[in-house]
Amino acid sequence: MTAEVNTEQAALWNGAGGHGWAVARDMVDQVLRPYEDLLVRAAREKPRTGVLDVGCGTGGVTRAIAAALGDVPCVGVDISGPQIAVARESANVRFFQADAQVHAFEPEFDLVVSRFGVMFFDDPVAAFRNLRTAAKPGGELRAVVWRDKDENPFMTTAERAVAPLMPDLPTFDPDAPGPYGLASPDRTRKILGESGWTAIDLRPVDLTCAMPEEVLPKYLTMLGPVGRALQTMDENEREDVLKTVLRAFDPFVHNGEVRFPTASWEIKALMPL
Ligand SMILES: C[S@@+](CC[C@H](N)C(=O)[O-])C[C@H]1O[C@@H](n2cnc3c(N)ncnc32)[C@H](O)[C@@H]1O
Repeated sequence: MTAEVNTEQAALWNGAGGHGWAVARDMVDQVLRPYEDLLVRAAREKPRTGVLDVGCGTGGVTRAIAAALGDVPCVGVDISGPQIAVARESANVRFFQADAQVHAFEPEFDLVVSRFGVMFFDDPVAAFRNLRTAAKPGGELRAVVWRDKDENPFMTTAERAVAPLMPDLPTFDPDAPGPYGLASPDRTRKILGESGWTAIDLRPVDLTCAMPEEVLPKYLTMLGPVGRALQTMDENEREDVLKTVLRAFDPFVHNGEVRFPTASWEIKALMPL
């Protein structure tokens, strides 16, 4: 891998965080399928000659776009070794491990996409400026990022449920690198403008995500701060905490399915000609 500047995020995504997402890849792709569909539709809007998926994780979106576009080369980049290791390549799909904030890209893509992979940069202006170097003149950026955590109650249910039992769990700082790092639309427009993207457009997207009820315990033990904390507990403690957490998810369970509303921004921007 080339230089890496996001040391904290690199440690997270190459440690328990990345391992969780790698093991849970099919579940993640199932839960986030509506966002995959959104980005596939975006990719199909016009002819494309090369697609870069930033923070691609295990590459579900990269592969879905590649399948939709025929033989257009699609490349996924991620800082997480454990996830890149299980990303499945094929004839026109390639993956590599790098910090997208500083990797030396070639200007070979006319579409740069991301499903929740661009909120983790410690210097977002530098990162989005660097992503511009991957884009051909006139190339497009299409990314989805979470809106505020208060608009995404499902994602903080586990943290709220365990708060009395685990007061030391880290709290989210809205402007710090993390899942809600681009939740503020004004800040995001400013970041993209300062990094040289034009025709910046943010559209609120509200989609329902779902998974079978029997998958929920795995989801909760593999992902997020509570999942990581659960993995360090002994079996008895884990069982107790998991019971408390599962109870908090009751309002989202309907007829054997967990369904929850999500709130995100669809970001569109262009690389100047
Ligand atoms: C929430 S996950 C989303 C993964 C994938 N896009 C998906 O939808 O399944 C965020 C991803 O961003 C990656 N990431 C975080 N910081 C990064 C950076 N500086 N460069 C490249 N990837 C990064 C993480 O390793 C992680 O895989």
